[in-house]
Order: sequence, then C-alpha cells, then structure tokens
Amino acid sequence: MLKVENLSTSYKTIDGDVQVLQNLNFEIYENEIFGIAGESGCGKTTLLKVLYDIIDFPLQIEQGRVVLSGEKNGKPFSYESGRIRDAWWKHISYVPQAAQSVLNPITRLKSQFLDSIPEEDRKNETEEETLKRVADYLEELSLSKDLLDAFPFQLSGGMRQRVIIALATFMSPNVVLADEPTTALDVVVQRGILMMLMRLQRELKNTLVVVSHDMGVHYQVTTRMGIMYSGSFAELGRTDEIFEDPIHPYTQMLIGALPRVGDSRARVGIPGRPPALTDPPPGCRFAPRCPHAVKRCTEEIPEFREVRPGRFAACHFAGEGERDDTEAVGS
Ligand SMILES: Nc1ncnc2c1ncn2[C@@H]1O[C@H](COP(=O)(O)OP(=O)(O)OP(=O)(O)O)[C@@H](O)[C@H]1O
Ligand SMILES: [Mg+2]
Repeated sequence: MLKVENLSTSYKTIDGDVQVLQNLNFEIYENEIFGIAGESGCGKTTLLKVLYDIIDFPLQIEQGRVVLSGEKNGKPFSYESGRIRDAWWKHISYVPQAAQSVLNPITRLKSQFLDSIPEEDRKNETEEETLKRVADYLEELSLSKDLLDAFPFQLSGGMRQRVIIALATFMSPNVVLADEPTTALDVVVQRGILMMLMRLQRELKNTLVVVSHDMGVHYQVTTRMGIMYSGSFAELGRTDEIFEDPIHPYTQMLIGALPRVGDSRARVGIPGRPPALTDPPPGCRFAPRCPHAVKRCTEEIPEFREVRPGRFAACHFAGEGERDDTEAVGS
C-alpha cells in the first residue's frame, strides 16, 4: 500500500541542512494498523508528512521516494512522491498532530465538510444532498448530525478529534495517517478515540498508520510497528513479537521501562538523551546510550536488515544469539 524506498530528508536551516530521515526502506501493507513509535523529536511527524507528500520548505527530500498504490472499487491506482497530493481524501487522508487546531474555530462544521469533499465526488448532488450523506455518516459513527451546525470552539477536545477523524474517513480512503491522535486527551476519551479508529479500520479494511510516543497505544491497537530512533528505524515487525521478544537494545529498554500489572520491581528508564540531529554521533546513533555497545558500534552505522522473517533491526549484533558483553565499552 505504501512503499518507502531509500528515503532521506532534511530541513534547511540557517546553520545548514539538518538530516532528519536517513535512508528508510520499509512497507506498510493493506488492511493493517501500522504504528510508529519513538521519543519526541525522532522524526515521526516528519515521516508522516513525507508519506502524505507535504514537502514544504524547509523540508526537502534528499533521495528516495514514497509510492502509494493499491486498488479501490476494483480500480488500481499508483502515486509517488510529488503526485500523492492528487490522491488526498480519496486514497489517503491525514489527521495532523494537534489536529484540534486544523478546524477553523469560527466556521460551522458543515462548511468544513463541504470544503473537504472534492467536486468530482459530489456526483452532481445539491449541497443538501451532500450534507445528508455527511449527516448519515456521522450517525453511523454515533455522532449527532446536529454537530454540522456547530462551531468547533463549542466542542470538547475529544469531540473535535472525533469530528476530524470523521472528516478524514468520510471518503473511505485506502490509507488514514493519524499523528498522535490521542495525546492531550484524558484516558477515557483516549480509549473512545482508539476504539473509533479501530472500528473504522475494521469496517473499511483499509490501512491505518498511527503515530504515538505511547507504547501502550501500540500494544493495544497496532498489528505491526516501527520504532524510530534519531531519524531512522531501530526495529520493525509484528507488534506482539516486538513486545514478546524485542531485538534492538533500544526497544528492549523502551519495553523494560513500561509498568506492568502485578510486577513491583523498579522500572529502569533509559539513561541519557537522544543525540542532537545537528551533530549525530558516528556509527550507531544509539551507541552512546547502549549498555552493549562495543568499539564497532561507535564507528560503523548498522544496516537495517531482516533479522528473522518479517523482523527488521538496525543493530550489528541482532540475530547473533547471546551477545558477548565482555568487550562492551561501558563494562
Ligand atoms: N521546520 C523545521 N525546521 C527545522 N527543523 C525541524 C523543523 N521541523 C522539525 N524539525 C526537526 O526535526 C526533528 C524531528 O521532528 P518531528 O516533528 O518529526 O519529531 P516527532 O518525532 O514528531 O516529535 P514529537 O514526538 O515531539 O511530535 C526535530 O529534531 C525537529 O527539531
Ligand atoms: Mg510529532
């Protein structure tokens, strides 16, 4: 459905180009919920923007591309970076981070729905007929059709997020990209939003890409996931397998830091901070924080490779069985 090939991007700044995504190669399949995890600033939003083809200054593609392809109503389609905009709403839609602010607070929701439906999809309908379709869709999602007459500022944060998701899914796109859809909402509302996204994905049998820094969200919702560290993937594979048996030391530490019911042992956080993207360390970017790092890790960039069927990791020692820590820099 989405294929990312040798993708590298950077932001132009007054101090020079800052590379934010490095040489990404991966695929997101049809009919799956794919998660993107990682600490703040690792590049999750940048990646979603590139998937959605919002490559506006200062962001630029240095190399590689994204290909969006599949089939809708029996008709095959294929778009690549630079053309993906032509597929907006119909084949791919985007719920941006802090989506609450994408709605114009002083325009009634019905105008915002009408503006998002391309002319060709109105099928010669009158405005009333189109709004009737929207009202029916809102009711299917257990939302009141009266919302259409409301202004966004009249709605709670959770309700606004539901409306944005309704807007993003109204045209049954093949792919829905959601950036931190539940951040800044309380736990009960978060759960409702996640259930809504999961239900829509089940009904549409489409592809949902969920960005979240919250590993709990990935555990509950996603089928496969990628864990980003400093602009590229440390690990990627089936979510249940990653939680069961994480391969990359960064993933191991992320999962080790999660609280578990019935386990009173102290959780160990990850020491140190992610490297500045303006001055990344040579070799593996996780090496300065990795308890297993050896000299090679500080010199040679590990390849992102398939360690087991469907499991990818960027670590020199992945898949080598027991790691020999006697040479570890930190030991
Ligand atoms: N317009 C910009 N100009 C320069 N650098 C930028 C710009 N936007 C983002 N960056 C840098 O790119 C890096 C990745 O940012 P991005 O927003 O993709 O991270 P993120 O993983 O989504 O973080 P968060 O979890 O906080 O949302 C950050 O270091 C950020 O400073
Ligand atoms: Mg972000």
